[in-house]
Amino acid sequence: MREVLGTTLTPFLKWAGGKRWLVDDHFDIFDINHSRFIEPFLGSGAVFFRLTPQSAILSDTNNRLVETYQAVRDHWQEVERHLRIHQRSHNEEYYYKVRRSKPRSPASKAAQLIYLNRTCWNGLYRVNLKGEFNVPKGTKSKVVFDTDNFRQISAALANAELRTNDFEDVISEAGYGDLVFVDPPYTVNHNDNAFIKYNERLFSWADQVRLRNCVLTARRRGARLIVTNAYHECIRELYKGVGEHIKLSRTSVISGKASSRGRYEELVIRCV
Ligand SMILES: C[S@@+](CC[C@H](N)C(=O)[O-])C[C@H]1O[C@@H](n2cnc3c(N)ncnc32)[C@H](O)[C@@H]1O
Repeated sequence: MREVLGTTLTPFLKWAGGKRWLVDDHFDIFDINHSRFIEPFLGSGAVFFRLTPQSAILSDTNNRLVETYQAVRDHWQEVERHLRIHQRSHNEEYYYKVRRSKPRSPASKAAQLIYLNRTCWNGLYRVNLKGEFNVPKGTKSKVVFDTDNFRQISAALANAELRTNDFEDVISEAGYGDLVFVDPPYTVNHNDNAFIKYNERLFSWADQVRLRNCVLTARRRGARLIVTNAYHECIRELYKGVGEHIKLSRTSVISGKASSRGRYEELVIRCV
């Protein structure tokens, strides 16, 4: 596994709120000594794949997502084989057939999620009340990317413990020597943004307060933490007196149409 330590890898998923832009454009924010890296809101793992640390805990409440990482780690060749089949067969009818299907093996389940993620509308992950993925087909038709490197991704993940957990269980283990990247869904206390519903469950304002409390206690145990959130008054107030506040601007596309590109301000709180 030594070959991938410190190498930059490209995340294999596109995820709402993904932080590739942050770690690419502001790498200095993450340039912190640590012996273990913890990412309790994993999503596409943009920061993990940029740092490829020697030891990590990667966690998310989305069990399908975590199972996908486990399958890529343990059966990457099988996952790749399924993806090549999806690439050859991809069309509108095939997309909906795969969306309806219930594959059994870990590798075929992972390839289903990766295929749908790459070809669905805007890379969105959304499920109905029965937990079934219900995003329509998008315009992109590439299923296998030139940048795919599942062998190295699998090697990087071999250094990581993968879990389906609420953030509190994971952050409560952080202490001296740990770097924790905390990237929750962005909720503001009047709940007017488009990103609050990630899985079957909402990330509420009470969760934001619970998260801030976890960050504070982990910091007291000696962990170093980087927290991201919306640059919103209520978040600035929530983290008042906690760490160094850095305001960043970026361009984002919400609906997938160029016309709805906008500039967004994000807050990074560096507790190091
Ligand atoms: C903003 S995304 C993380 C994006 C990630 N940093 C990336 O680069 O792709 C937030 C993630 O938090 C997960 N999540 C939502 N509620 C959670 C909770 N209570 N505990 C842990 N993860 C949660 C969601 O499933 C989602 O994957």
